[in-house]
Amino acid sequence: MQAVLLGYGTVGKGVEKLVNTVDGLDMKAVFVLPEFEDLPYFSNDGEGLVTDPDVDVVFECLSGTEPSNTLIRKALEAGKHVITSNKATVAPNLEDYVKLAEENGGSIQIEASVAGGIPFLDAVLKLQKLEDLNGFEGIFNGTSNYILDQMQKEGQDLSTALRDAQAMGYAEADPTNDVEGMDVWYKTVITNMLAYNTKNDGLRKPLGISKLTPEDIALARGENKVIRHISRSVQKDGRYASVIAPAFLNRDDYLANVPSNYNAQLIYADSFDKIGLFGQGAGQMATAQAMLANALDTMEGTERPIRLDRNLKQDDSLIQETWLV
Ligand code: HSE
Repeated sequence: MQAVLLGYGTVGKGVEKLVNTVDGLDMKAVFVLPEFEDLPYFSNDGEGLVTDPDVDVVFECLSGTEPSNTLIRKALEAGKHVITSNKATVAPNLEDYVKLAEENGGSIQIEASVAGGIPFLDAVLKLQKLEDLNGFEGIFNGTSNYILDQMQKEGQDLSTALRDAQAMGYAEADPTNDVEGMDVWYKTVITNMLAYNTKNDGLRKPLGISKLTPEDIALARGENKVIRHISRSVQKDGRYASVIAPAFLNRDDYLANVPSNYNAQLIYADSFDKIGLFGQGAGQMATAQAMLANALDTMEGTERPIRLDRNLKQDDSLIQETWLV
């Protein structure tokens, strides 16, 4: 199969490396913004690449919503198999993408858009086939988790820890969405849709970690608690609700003990009570391998279908505790 890559940042470079290791998958060209226009094999003609009749697979690793959204739509209209890590464009547009894929014989796969290298969405898609999921919770932002760990264990200030997280490739190019919670908001919107098989009914905005102070850290320590940035979602009888905020957790809580460079999630249902996953939720090769795993599914014809055919309503009364600090 022939592939093209949109975006040549941290994740895009990782995808390029891995594509070269897969027999039967060839990278034809990479779409980049104009500053790279002189490089061979790079193209600024994104639309031309995603509609090229020789191309089967489109890896989309741009950040932000444009030109990503336009190029994903063009690719799906042309019947391509689109694999994206871009939560900012998936969250508001997934219903359209699923419809376009169905209408044109292509597919949309989004594993890398939530929890990086952890096959979390794959688990959600598999588990929700059998029964209604009761909810999920977890640490979904590697940058925030790293910063909180450094603040609590090493006494670092937030901006120093953020610089380290950027150097390690966890943070977004503009880290505002990491520390203000929007990155987790996108991931929660996406997971709600997949977990509950539902169209997007919006979500109230998150609280991030940017306003945490040394006094908050001292308060948590005094109460023998650990602060983690948590997204929690519950579903009951066709209603759902989510809270995204820093939380004081007991020291023996599963989510309190997640290593600083990891994400972790719990998925809840009646039959299995809970299932936990943890691993690298950010970083170049972890995220790239999630995209290649999707590509292998395309090559083998084993993609998990996304069906958003229910219409659940948000209802904040489902959440009794909001965990605000
Ligand atoms: N900036 C994100 C994070 C990358 O820190 O988790 C993975 O989505």
